[in-house]
Amino acid sequence: MKFSTLFRTKSVPQILAEVKHQEENSSGELVRNLNLRDLTSMGIAAIIGAGIFSTIGNASAAGGPAVSLLFIFTAIACVFSAMCYAEFASTIPISGSAYTYAYASFGEIVAWIMGCVLLMEYAIGNIAVAISWSDYFTGMMAGIGLNIPSYLTMDFLTASKGYDTVMELLSAGGQLEQATPAQQLAYEAWTQAPSIGGGLKLVADLPALGITAIITTLVYIGIQESKTASNILVLLKVLVIIMVIIVGAFYVNPDNWSPFAPNGVSGVLKGVSAVFFAYIGFDAISTTAEECKNPQRDLPKAMLYTLLICTVLYILITLVLTGMVSYTELAVGDPLAYVFDKLDLNIMAGIISVSAVVALSSVLLVFQLGQPRIWMSMSRDGLLPAAFSRIHPRFKTPSFATIITGLVVAIPALFMNLTVVTDLTSIGTLFAFVIVSGGVLVMDANNTPRGRFRVPYYNAKWILPVLLIGILGLLLANDPQSVSNFFTLDTSQGFWTALEHKILLIGFIIVCLVMTYLSFTRNLSLIPVLGLLVNLYLMTELGISNWLWFLTCLGIGLVIYFTYSYRNSRLNKVNAE
Ligand code: ALA
Repeated sequence: MKFSTLFRTKSVPQILAEVKHQEENSSGELVRNLNLRDLTSMGIAAIIGAGIFSTIGNASAAGGPAVSLLFIFTAIACVFSAMCYAEFASTIPISGSAYTYAYASFGEIVAWIMGCVLLMEYAIGNIAVAISWSDYFTGMMAGIGLNIPSYLTMDFLTASKGYDTVMELLSAGGQLEQATPAQQLAYEAWTQAPSIGGGLKLVADLPALGITAIITTLVYIGIQESKTASNILVLLKVLVIIMVIIVGAFYVNPDNWSPFAPNGVSGVLKGVSAVFFAYIGFDAISTTAEECKNPQRDLPKAMLYTLLICTVLYILITLVLTGMVSYTELAVGDPLAYVFDKLDLNIMAGIISVSAVVALSSVLLVFQLGQPRIWMSMSRDGLLPAAFSRIHPRFKTPSFATIITGLVVAIPALFMNLTVVTDLTSIGTLFAFVIVSGGVLVMDANNTPRGRFRVPYYNAKWILPVLLIGILGLLLANDPQSVSNFFTLDTSQGFWTALEHKILLIGFIIVCLVMTYLSFTRNLSLIPVLGLLVNLYLMTELGISNWLWFLTCLGIGLVIYFTYSYRNSRLNKVNAE
């Protein structure tokens, strides 16, 4: 194996010609059904979900009202990436999305890594969404008097850990009532769960499994059905969100906005993963490129419209949320329902719980739609077995890949816990955004002919260094302590602990210097450079343990690449011939 073959690329005309050839010669092809409105609706369907209905609670509790600024900052990072996605989508309107973009710009091994990363975004993201859906659904059922046994609505680990904690409390002479409500529920689940086989407790999240099965079936039977469902779900959830903002605005007490950033910049940055998670999804619509009526015109527009609409809604919601109650109270899993409940607006709380179920279903739908289409593209390239690109003769969907996606999401959703999967999803998606932004720079360098949407060009030569120096100046003026902390190594808790917080930042600073040098010498385009740096910075904020998880997953992916995909790659065969 020659090292250079790992970076073999496919040219844009080659990719387009191959897809056309396959469409003409295979048993079936996807149907072109989606217009600009459907795509924008699907984008909103994918974005507004668990992020705003659940994980935003803890982020607001840590950062205070200033989390709304984090929403703006993250939106800017997403707009940079969305423009790069849009340029690629209009140049290569293929279902593989970022996987295909990476193949055309960086080469096969990066494309493969991108395939793994997109698996983290869509499939693992959906595990998180399914778990969150189950929480809201269980609550909604309890609200109408239908109590599902807790051991059938919880993951194994949460129940077993909660039980252990309560047992420790009890053996130290404490009372069950002293445990938190979540621990009490876990204890109840564990003690009530029937034992199967040699004493193994039956604790599993059945509603998460159920909704995944339903959504997978919908995605399997057709893009038309999926589109209709997505449009209806989006209409419902956007109406409810607007209602929350309007009704909530009457209950805002501006005193709650002060202090605006009670825990400083570091408190706000604790919310990076949660806030970024709330924005994930606009990219997913690019996987439907082969089902769009006019992908080159509509996909770029739809991505940007989607982001714009969601950003406005998110900023308003965060301001209303942190204005209605003190930020300290928001560390709950259902913050929107909680604030209305607290103000005795029970009808609103009920409506929100129902709409959370609706919102999360629509996220599941679009992600469940995206994953098989990426696998389909990888299979066409020979990196995955041929079955993954099989199109159902009647339903015109990637049938086998859709079923596998269903299993990949449904089974772990039975047993896994929310935080781990949210973080992994965010880090994977940020990495995809970094690569897509870098890919545009590679296309610029290679003078690749582009589609009708181009990222507007501003020369980064002077602007980037001035921006970086400006940020450093602001930091020195406002938070000199954090700058001096960076230059001191506090080894009181061990050398590694001291270093692990810095290592990612040092890596980021090196990348900044390299990009500044390249911008200066090669007149790079500003927007993709900023897309790359801002998303990379957000990645460094996710902490070393998430990076280790992330690298472990990529390592597993690379083992598969070297044992199967490298040899079976169509490019490998074509080159050999
Ligand atoms: N943005 C999606 C959500 O918040 C993933 O659920």
